[in-house]
Amino acid sequence: MAFNEEQFKDIISEFTVSTERLQEIAAAFRQDMQLGLRDVTLSSMRMLKSYVGLPSGKETGEYLALDFGGTNIRVFKIRLDGNGEFEVVKKIARPLIVPGEYNYISKESTAEQMFDFIAEMIDELIEGNNTDKFYLGHTFSFPSRQDDIYNAQLIVWTKEFATQGVEGEVANDLLAAALKRRGFGNVVPVAVLNDTVAVLLSAAYKNPDTFIGSIYATGHNTCYLEPSIQDEKSFGKGGMILNLECGNFMKLAPNRFDKEYDDSSEKPGEQRFEKMVSGRYMGELFGMAIAELVGEQGKNYNLTSVDMSMIILDESDNFEKASAILEEKVGRKFEHDDIAKIREIAAAIVVRSARLVAASFVAIIWQRAGHDEIERQHIAVDGSVYEKMPLAKDNITSALAELLGEDADKVDTVLDNGGSGLGAAIAAAMAVE
Ligand code: GLC
Repeated sequence: MAFNEEQFKDIISEFTVSTERLQEIAAAFRQDMQLGLRDVTLSSMRMLKSYVGLPSGKETGEYLALDFGGTNIRVFKIRLDGNGEFEVVKKIARPLIVPGEYNYISKESTAEQMFDFIAEMIDELIEGNNTDKFYLGHTFSFPSRQDDIYNAQLIVWTKEFATQGVEGEVANDLLAAALKRRGFGNVVPVAVLNDTVAVLLSAAYKNPDTFIGSIYATGHNTCYLEPSIQDEKSFGKGGMILNLECGNFMKLAPNRFDKEYDDSSEKPGEQRFEKMVSGRYMGELFGMAIAELVGEQGKNYNLTSVDMSMIILDESDNFEKASAILEEKVGRKFEHDDIAKIREIAAAIVVRSARLVAASFVAIIWQRAGHDEIERQHIAVDGSVYEKMPLAKDNITSALAELLGEDADKVDTVLDNGGSGLGAAIAAAMAVE
């Protein structure tokens, strides 16, 4: 069976964003930020206060860090040596789901079970030491309302998490209670932060010309240093970092796949931008497009963004690898020309994602610059899509050039790998020093 050419072209056009359209999206994003700065209820983004600005780079000492933001939990012991230097002394990582064994993110699991699991990891990290005092920074990467550096109350789960008893609660309280249940009252959570904030702190610790931090992975979100917000409860310099929660940005037009996916998702109407760009969702959109082409609309093939990246990377003459993935997931053997088209669709979805992310970065750069010249800067990005997905980084760079023109020379994106752990240690140091 060969795909219908018209239908194929239509799908590609659904995922294509022109320069003009991108300009409009960047302008709409900036306007939404401006509305939010005036009155947060006017913005589609939450623009959450983090109670930290930038670090001095001189922070020192040994801290524990917890990175909790996806299905993989990581705990670290990190030593900060100042001058942007540090060492990860110890690290343990463990998944929150092992199919057939346990699943701490489903509706059937509870906050206690989830945080006891984390406390057990911390126990292992500190080798059962229940006497020395440890300060802990907690990267908790879900939209949370804070009124100081400790207190982050989960507003709503994102990324399809559904564990009971966490929404509305203070994440650090749940963690501290679990640590106490296990006999570790000596481990004291002192700071909580979003992963985007952690990435920005981590990058700025090493390089001060960094004002924007972003995660481009399972989820997508960005934070930036807002100079106009000062607060006596805030630590660090240059203003306050705002976690935009831009995964919830809505002032852009979804295509028919975006709409259909959203309708069937755990939280319809929410995280519309994230559902268009992040790794958790690109595979879903890809699967829906294929289902349409083969006349199986509504069928879920469980295609992931990792499948997409392997399909895009398969440039062999007979598309052996791509063909095998498609046969396994979609359950049919595709002709050569159809695989070529499927690869084009995968590429179009990734390119759209990267362009939209770039537009949001440009909006923030414009907003920070105001009427002044754009400053030289690095945008710190962490996450598997940015790091590993073919076409992602290159298309961010080219879209930045399209939107910024000559000023594009002043801006680049840099990978800040592992920033979620390091940033948490830095935040802990900022809070206790
Ligand atoms: C989701 C969360 C956000 C986080 C992002 C990346 O968008 O709501 O808090 O920063 O995922 O992990």
